[in-house]
Amino acid sequence: MNVLLLGASGRIGRRAATELLDRGHNVTGVSRSGTVAEIDSDAFVVVAGDATVSEDVAKLAAGHDAVVSTLGPGGDVSPDILTEMVTAVIDGMRHGAVDRLVWTGGAGGLMVNPETMLIETADFPEEWKPVASAAIDAYEILREADDLAWTYVAPAAMIQPGDRTGEYRTADRELVTDDEGESHISMEDFAVALVDELESERSVHTYLGTGY
Ligand SMILES: NC(=O)c1ccc[n+]([C@@H]2O[C@H](COP(=O)([O-])OP(=O)(O)OC[C@H]3O[C@@H](n4cnc5c(N)ncnc54)[C@H](OP(=O)(O)O)[C@@H]3O)[C@@H](O)[C@H]2O)c1
Repeated sequence: MNVLLLGASGRIGRRAATELLDRGHNVTGVSRSGTVAEIDSDAFVVVAGDATVSEDVAKLAAGHDAVVSTLGPGGDVSPDILTEMVTAVIDGMRHGAVDRLVWTGGAGGLMVNPETMLIETADFPEEWKPVASAAIDAYEILREADDLAWTYVAPAAMIQPGDRTGEYRTADRELVTDDEGESHISMEDFAVALVDELESERSVHTYLGTGY
């Protein structure tokens, strides 16, 4: 597949690029600077683009089979930029005639029980609330785009660099927890989940939770 990877220079993005390349996909990686450190492959091209500008996304997306986003707000701007990004990506994909999108979202909107989202739980860290809330707003925008074959894939509550085991579980709109009640996944296995979903299209139009 020819894949446009938005956010390729990020922590999850570099792992997603590696996973895609290891499976034989051709990847166009996007960052604002047009550089991505530490990945060297003939199947990997890096270009500069701004994911808040729909014209940039349209130009970059054209000719690709799918868009994968590992975009994040970074530390220096308001997390609300996530809603600008998803709006520009949706619009850009429509203009670039690409209809498959795998979007890295947040765990905050996943349900921990039938009435309660993770972000609403008493011990959800206060400092994570702005980005978690912005990620839920981005989901609300994406879910209206039913002309696109989107999947919103959320990491577990905790995601860190680690090992690629290839083992993980998913749940539709639910937080995935292990036998001890912990919700966690390595960035490497999250990248596996993103690419599995891209290839299988098992969970189109779904807010998918991932974890061990
Ligand atoms: N438990 C959870 O729910 C959880 C935990 C962690 C992360 N996440 C989510 O996962 C996503 C990725 O996280 P991460 O830690 O990998 O993020 P990150 O390391 O901060 O990477 C963010 C990426 O977005 C790119 N970017 C930012 N603004 C851009 C713009 N205007 N145009 C183009 N590219 C832009 C950055 O590229 P340049 O800066 O190089 O341009 C970088 O590649 C985020 O949305 C984050 O909220 C969720």
